[in-house]
Amino acid sequence: MKDAVLKSLKQARVVSGETLATELGISRTAVWKHVNQLRREGYRISSSPRRGYALDSVPDSLLAAKIAEHLQTRVLGREIVTCKEVQSTQDHAKTLALQGSPDGTIVVAETQSGGRGRFGRSWASPPGGLYVSIILRPSITLAEVTRIPLVAAVALVRAIQRHTPTELRLKWPNDVLIQNRKAAGILAEMSAEVDRLDWMILGIGVNVAITSAALPPDIRQTSTSLATGSTRTVQRVQLLRDILYELEGALEMLQTEGFEPIRKQWKDQSDMLGKHVMVAGKRQPIKGKAVDIDGYGALILECAGGIRQRITSGDVFRVGAAHG
Ligand code: BTN
Repeated sequence: MKDAVLKSLKQARVVSGETLATELGISRTAVWKHVNQLRREGYRISSSPRRGYALDSVPDSLLAAKIAEHLQTRVLGREIVTCKEVQSTQDHAKTLALQGSPDGTIVVAETQSGGRGRFGRSWASPPGGLYVSIILRPSITLAEVTRIPLVAAVALVRAIQRHTPTELRLKWPNDVLIQNRKAAGILAEMSAEVDRLDWMILGIGVNVAITSAALPPDIRQTSTSLATGSTRTVQRVQLLRDILYELEGALEMLQTEGFEPIRKQWKDQSDMLGKHVMVAGKRQPIKGKAVDIDGYGALILECAGGIRQRITSGDVFRVGAAHG
């Protein structure tokens, strides 16, 4: 009955308790109880004695039915697993992938107690962020796998950009920056056989509406959130639908047109090309000028003596030109 009350509220701009009671064949007290239950679930319903009830806004909770409601994809998000709190959506998705969950299955959580980032770092996952892992089973060769994180980065920027006018930039390979601070990141993990990709899990974390105080002190200076300095509220459910839609489109584009259009889009959004950088990773740090992205997503650095180095892994930092 609560769902019927909600349906009527969604259909009418304003509806009186009496009309609702007659329509649904229940008492006005029962209507009032259902309205209060909906309010407890996060629906904002205003009421005035003369006009009745009006549904002002729906909650931004990540419920599978809600995500699926206006989803425009064919594959991504057709199976949705939602969790209130999980250690890591990435680990949950991995278990599902090993059990044979289909291409496009997603795992979403409101918070993570052990969110993981690149290079074994932790990913702070307080309420107000978007944490999703997507199982992909693309028909690509292992050599082509390195393109996927960049494809995802381009799609993520396109999706976020639908929700904010703020300029977004990409840091190689797939950090989304706002004013030089990280607002979103992607972790790509995979399982492969000798020459065949079995599955890949793309873990996407977006700081949607997270205050700096909710983040660990060591990343407060380098991180930001979509809500920072903005008066707009980003609805996570719609953002997630947009991410899935853009990612599906970008993956299709990769299949039909190859990597070149994605590479171009990535370069257009890049924060680093033409700049002097240092790449830190497992090996000795390398310094040089970031000059290009190659056809497999590697970063090309022009180092001392004009020697070009191909970087396939690591963290990139901007440095002064003198280091070039
Ligand atoms: C990075 O280091 O930039 C990658 C961050 C990826 C975080 C996401 S949140 C959803 C998924 N689950 C995790 O534990 N990590 C990824």
